[in-house]
This record gives sequence, structure tokens and C-alpha cells, in this order.
Amino acid sequence: MTDKGTSGPGNVSITLAGNGGSKTVDLYSDEGRDLVASLWVKLSSHYRVMYEPTWLGIPIIQFPTDIVMMEELIWKVRPDFIVECGLAHGGSAVMFASICELIGKGQVIGVDVEIRQYNRAAIMSHPMSKRIELIEGSSIDHSVVAEIKRRVAGAETVLVVLDSNHSRDHVLKELNLYGEIVTPNSYMVAMDGAQALVWDTPNGKEEWKEDNPLVAIHEFLKKNPNFQIDPHYTRMHITSSPDGFLRRLTAEELK
Ligand SMILES: C[S@@+](CC[C@H](N)C(=O)[O-])C[C@H]1O[C@@H](n2cnc3c(N)ncnc32)[C@H](O)[C@@H]1O
Repeated sequence: MTDKGTSGPGNVSITLAGNGGSKTVDLYSDEGRDLVASLWVKLSSHYRVMYEPTWLGIPIIQFPTDIVMMEELIWKVRPDFIVECGLAHGGSAVMFASICELIGKGQVIGVDVEIRQYNRAAIMSHPMSKRIELIEGSSIDHSVVAEIKRRVAGAETVLVVLDSNHSRDHVLKELNLYGEIVTPNSYMVAMDGAQALVWDTPNGKEEWKEDNPLVAIHEFLKKNPNFQIDPHYTRMHITSSPDGFLRRLTAEELK
């Protein structure tokens, strides 16, 4: 990072060198902000920062900015059901449930291919457990999808969060299967598109360049114009879910 030598404290450029090239941008510009944000995501992924937060005592695998954005989204949508594919320890389900509790409505249905006994016990003994239902099975298994559809049938507002297997194929299947249950003006949040950004980090994988949720999101949107990316929920720029907040348009908007 260098002071450009000209007048004013804002006159700073930043140069990123490596991987066979170098790039210099003004720090205080959209380009500078985007570069620094992408570097933060790369470094934080390398240092596994997303494994640090807890919510009401339960580990939640998210960046803090994304946690705040989910709080805003739930407060706005006020869903009757939040379907979350990919539960892990359950911190995100507990977080969603705690916002529902403050709103005074809403049930979280958490799906995971493997719900470990100690995670299940921690979730089910948590004060927020009254707003959480668990389903063990693959999110793309037809019996799991059928069970979820049965539970949310007739609900006015359904919000879906996809945070399970982050391969392109799996996420694309989830987007197609779960898009149907998202109610108009609600959202489907496809998380971890930043896998596309971190493939070249020391612990990244070359295949993530193409095999990631972001590719699936863009493919899904090409065939599903009833969903639209809402940039409002990635406005912090530091996010693991770029282009991941998809709003289902209303019948009025689709006319
Ligand atoms: C990134 S973690 C979820 C993190 C969690 N949403 C949070 O914010 O704390 C991904 C989870 O997806 C689960 N998973 C992987 N493949 C799956 C599948 N086919 N169906 C459902 N869950 C799956 C894994 O077992 C793991 O617990």
C-alpha cells in the first residue's frame, strides 16, 4: 500500500502482486473496496474465521456480516417457516429461531444429512428448541423434500436457506427443488458462493473455480426469471454469499 505522494490523506493506492501479475487500484474507490473485501474473504477463509462465532452458545459457521444480514432478512420477511438445508452444529438454526422468537412467530426446519448426537442434544435442550424441527437426510432426497413440502403446506411465508453441500450440481438441484416452496416476495438464500473466490487460497481447490454455488445460482437464474438477486443483503461486500440472496418476485411484478 503506498501513499500516492500527492495532496490529501485519501490519496492511497494499493498494489496486489503475485500469481504472475500485479494490479494497482485506488484504495478509496469501489475497486479498492472490492479488492480489500475479496482479500478479507480469502484470508478469513484461510484462517477459518467463519468457525469462530457462536449464537446463544451454539457454534454458527458464518461470517459476522452474513449473520447480521440474515437477522435483517428474517425481520423483514417475518416467515412462518425457515427451511435450512445444512445444519452442522445448529447455530444458524438457533439464530434464525431466536429472531423468530423476538418477532413472535416462525418455525425453523433444519435438514442435515448427518445430525450428530451431541449436536442434536445441544439444539434440542436449547431455549430456542421450541421453534426448531430437525430432519435427518439429504436435502435432495425426494422423501425429505416431500416431508418439508408437507410441513410448510399452506404457510403464508416461507424462507429457504441453502447451506449444505456446496458443489455446483447439488446447489442447482436444491435451488430447483426448494424454489417451489419459497413464497412470493420471500427469499431463497444460497450460501457460500465465495467458494468461487477462494479456490486459489493455500487450502483452496482448483476445481472450486467452476464447482461452486455461484455457478449454480447464475444457471438457476437464467431459467427462473421469477427470482432476482437482491444486492441489499450483500451491501457489506464482506460476505461468503455473493449474489446469494434471491428474492422471489410477486405475481404483480411478473405481469
Ligand atoms: C457449512 S455446514 C452448515 C453450516 C450451518 N448452516 C451454519 O451456518 O452454522 C454444511 C452442513 O451441510 C451438511 N450436508 C452436506 N451434504 C448434505 C446434504 N446432501 N443434505 C443435507 N445436508 C448436507 C453437512 O453435514 C454440514 O453439517
